[in-house]
Amino acid sequence: MKTGKILLVGIGPGAHEHMTFRAKQAIAEADVVIGYSTYIKLVQELLDGKEVIRKGMTEELDRSIEAYEHAKQGKIVALISSGDIGVYGMAGPTYELLLESGWTPDDPIQVEVVPGSTALLSCASLVGAPLTHDFCSISLSDLLTPWPVIARRLESAARGDFVVALYNPKSGRRTQHIVEAQNILLRHRSPDTPVAIVKSGYRARQHIQLVRLAEMADCDIGMLTTVLVGNSSTFVRAGLMVTPRGYANKYDAMTGETREGEQAGRSLNMGLEGWKGCVRQYLRDTPKVTLLQAAEYFAQPLAEILDAVSQSTPDDPAGIFSAQRAIPDSHERLLESFQAWGKLRAVVRSEAGAVAELLINAADLQSKNGWVSIVNDAFHLHIDWRKAQQIWFVNRQDQAYGIQVLDQQGDALFNLWLVADEAGFDSTALKHYLEDRAQFSAPTTLEPTHHD
Ligand SMILES: C[S@@+](CC[C@H](N)C(=O)[O-])C[C@H]1O[C@@H](n2cnc3c(N)ncnc32)[C@H](O)[C@@H]1O
Repeated sequence: MKTGKILLVGIGPGAHEHMTFRAKQAIAEADVVIGYSTYIKLVQELLDGKEVIRKGMTEELDRSIEAYEHAKQGKIVALISSGDIGVYGMAGPTYELLLESGWTPDDPIQVEVVPGSTALLSCASLVGAPLTHDFCSISLSDLLTPWPVIARRLESAARGDFVVALYNPKSGRRTQHIVEAQNILLRHRSPDTPVAIVKSGYRARQHIQLVRLAEMADCDIGMLTTVLVGNSSTFVRAGLMVTPRGYANKYDAMTGETREGEQAGRSLNMGLEGWKGCVRQYLRDTPKVTLLQAAEYFAQPLAEILDAVSQSTPDDPAGIFSAQRAIPDSHERLLESFQAWGKLRAVVRSEAGAVAELLINAADLQSKNGWVSIVNDAFHLHIDWRKAQQIWFVNRQDQAYGIQVLDQQGDALFNLWLVADEAGFDSTALKHYLEDRAQFSAPTTLEPTHHD
């Protein structure tokens, strides 16, 4: 008996010229072709003499089961799907079923995944070049995925400035998902962000709309639509949606010359090795800026900004700032040492942005069960010390001495600043602070910016 085979075939968006050579060949090889009835129609001309099994939309697992059953009988089975069969398609469920049934790749029944052009690629090609930079796809279907998961992915993609392709954006019953998606994207992206709405790409009823993000949810969107939302640099010109590759960061568009300070074939000034130097430059050029504002400006956690400051040298200072990171295993000892720092200003931040500034006496700091607390008549302050992942000694020349405590993400948890009166800092408190800084901070290979 012939050995069976399962061919998982992505047929591309619909038009035959966009199907791969291997996809056509795989369908030609097959004894049995299984698929959703719409996909079967799209490849009708290739099916002469074959056993064809048409399935409804909801019979997805049946398609895999039937493919396996036929393969076990020694037949070559092509299970077809639009676009790429591995993208929101049948490749995953089929492998899950096979593996659960005890099938392994060494089994005589061979499985081949034949890739195809997925909707986001096909649709992008119809509107210009919207995917020339980092992109992601998110399906708005909550038939198998909880909405909070979808919402979190939308939020992260929007925050990360990805071009976003929305699959399954709307159906007769799922009409509000695209509205919610628009609201989430608008939290991080301009209402003018270009959006391409491609319905039935490369099929008979192809329809394309280029709109603004603010109008997206009001457009004609259906089951067979892919929505492409641009990133912060995507533009539309002459009816084409284009996401720049980034050449303008390095080259002058008119002359083709590399911009000042940049080198062809090398990372940008703002590349991995150079960007912290740009932070120091920014701190020098913007004297009134705070480190938190710098973190916001570079859209990076405060930990990265402090690291940039800690690498300053006399030739490359970080404005008026200097910073040294405390050795990670010194945190508990440091907690005891704080108590000799006299009067402190504690600045405590909530994630939502609320800030409390409290005058405290360092000696009143109590540590119990992982919490650092101060309880007095005026206020109760409780800080979860287990969240303190990094401690940095931070100075603003000789005007401010303190520590910044950061959480696991490198964001500000709270800071403590020594308090000065008209006569300046209390000399005993400052002496303890400077001694602790010398004792507990990690050695830097570079010279500090200035001497206190
Ligand atoms: C279940 S997913 C299947 C995706 C498919 N496997 C792929 O790789 O393109 C169905 C979604 O794909 C998108 N889609 C598929 N074909 C399309 C086409 N020809 N034009 C526009 N969008 C399409 C739509 O968002 C639709 O809701």
